[in-house]
Amino acid sequence: MSFLEITNIVKDYGAFRAINDVSFSVEEGEFIVMVGPSGCGKSTLLRSLAGLEDITSGSLILGGRDITRDEPADRGVAMVFQNYALYPHMTVAQNMGFGLKMAGQSKADVKVAVERAAKTLRITDHLHKRPKMLSGGQRQRVAIGRAITRSPDVFLFDEPLSNLDASLRAQMRVELGHLHAELGATMIYVTHDQVEAMTMASRIIVLNGGDIEQIGTPLELYNKPANRFVAEFLGSPRINLFDGKIAAINAQTASIKIDGIADHLEISLSSDSGPMASGDKVTVGIRPESINDTAPWKIPAKISVIESLGRETLFYVNADPVKTLDPDAKDPLFAVHKSNQITAQIGDDISLGIPQEGVFLFNEAGETVRYPITQTAP
Ligand SMILES: Nc1ncnc2c1ncn2[C@@H]1O[C@H](COP(=O)(O)OP(=O)(O)O)[C@@H](O)[C@H]1O
Ligand SMILES: [Mg+2]
Repeated sequence: MSFLEITNIVKDYGAFRAINDVSFSVEEGEFIVMVGPSGCGKSTLLRSLAGLEDITSGSLILGGRDITRDEPADRGVAMVFQNYALYPHMTVAQNMGFGLKMAGQSKADVKVAVERAAKTLRITDHLHKRPKMLSGGQRQRVAIGRAITRSPDVFLFDEPLSNLDASLRAQMRVELGHLHAELGATMIYVTHDQVEAMTMASRIIVLNGGDIEQIGTPLELYNKPANRFVAEFLGSPRINLFDGKIAAINAQTASIKIDGIADHLEISLSSDSGPMASGDKVTVGIRPESINDTAPWKIPAKISVIESLGRETLFYVNADPVKTLDPDAKDPLFAVHKSNQITAQIGDDISLGIPQEGVFLFNEAGETVRYPITQTAP
């Protein structure tokens, strides 16, 4: 049995099903990131684990104990919220020790726990201050400190970095990684930000409309997304997509036709390819970093936006038959990633070389039927 077993969780709000029969298990010490678009049920699932929502059906087993109907304080979980939820009239130390005090611990024990957590989070100098005297990043540390003092079996984080500015978010990602290693704690972290998911998770759970789309390590999901939704959700800029058709197929290769671009793109198939038949409609996916100058299959395009990031360059280009980046945009843009500095002008012609190794294929149901051939370092 795993450390945390979540089995067949359903949560209805009246006639609306927010969580649809979700099951997964978590090993002790894992850093699980649940990611998905706004409204997909992340907070509902986390609040159900914390006991802040009654679930409609299903069971929660933590460390062999059935906690499904336990009161929040008795579950051995502590939750950190996006808006910090600190008591404004209490000092940092009082905020951090409040849970322990309520649980009846002695003043001396509370003090020790608070000071230890403050040291871990480097907020010792702020213990006597009130929350309003602190920056957003410091307040979030206090909220995390309040969870740490309770020594929970599982930490639950609901978008804890969303209110922070970009550079502080990046710093806090690293700090949370340290904290996880230092405490050896089990953490479940909810975010809509795929960068947080990719950088912090031991395993990612992708949620969509109350269902789990896929569970796996960041690179498993990036390299082998089960479906188009996962492929589009992970990766920035997003994977490029266009409509195609299987022109011919045998056990080893498929020939893809894309209107206006190519009649025959030969791609190799392998044992992990899904079922496909001649005439099937497919969506062809190519990640921005897969495009190169040498691949024999070329799409002519014009540079429309240049983002020079120093270490790397992103082009957004117009290429007629391409369907996304943003399907609702007037001019469909194709994203190209170059891992160096490039001098180019808006309006320059560019040729998108698409190597067959980098091609994803998705069937009409959105399932992945062909993965790229990934080259992993030796
Ligand atoms: N108390 C509630 N009553 C009715 N519907 C709710 C309630 N809380 C959340 N929902 C709905 O459940 C869905 C999932 O919400 P939520 O878990 O907050 O999403 P997320 O955190 O992924 O953005 C949304 O459609 C939301 O409108
Ligand atoms: Mg939420």
